[in-house]
Amino acid sequence: MTASFEVTCGTPDDAAAVLALERTILEEGGSFATAPDEFHLSEAKLRVLLASLLEQPDGRFLVAREGGRILGVLLVHQEPVRALRHVGRLELFVDPGSRRRGVGDALLAEAVRRAELDPGLCKLSLAVFADNVAALALYRRHGFREEGHRVGEYLMDDGTLRDDLLLWRSVGR
Ligand SMILES: CC(C)(COP(=O)(O)OP(=O)(O)OC[C@H]1O[C@@H](n2cnc3c(N)ncnc32)[C@H](O)[C@@H]1OP(=O)(O)O)[C@@H](O)C(=O)NCCC(=O)NCCS
Repeated sequence: MTASFEVTCGTPDDAAAVLALERTILEEGGSFATAPDEFHLSEAKLRVLLASLLEQPDGRFLVAREGGRILGVLLVHQEPVRALRHVGRLELFVDPGSRRRGVGDALLAEAVRRAELDPGLCKLSLAVFADNVAALALYRRHGFREEGHRVGEYLMDDGTLRDDLLLWRSVGR
């Protein structure tokens, strides 16, 4: 089946839609450490962040769009320290109503493809909850491997401790 969505670079004007999607994902729970009541990013600040990602080589801010609606977002962050600038840290989320349609797969494939061509990046990395079966399957499928397991890294509001895994893959060399 041909996908009815397309993956492209986003624009700063997508800030409101990205923010709304991010809130939805945090309210859904289970995949990010930030609780919804701790999420205070404003549209104006996100717009600045997205604009700064778009000043970098292609592919640091990707969206999957269908009929003008954003179904998924992938951001590639870099630390502002020279010694860490070769590492792209991934953030990926897909609208709950649009999952298992290949959106995450298409976003990640495009991010890796662009990162492979980006002379500034040697490594992609991310942290993921150890019980996030969906994300782990997706990242492993795209060549990511485990480089660390942090035990009890997060204390959740319900009192449970959760582990996370650090994943990475090399790009460009
Ligand atoms: C993880 C996430 C991005 C996957 O997005 P998606 O668009 O549903 O994924 P896709 O449809 O492209 O699936 C690609 C592959 O990932 C794996 N996968 C996706 N969802 C899965 C699930 N629920 N269970 C097991 N494997 C899953 C499968 O290998 C799948 O291939 P298949 O459909 O051929 O079996 C999405 O579930 C999400 O946004 N979750 C919340 C945020 C999150 O966890 N982000 C990552 C944190 S680091």
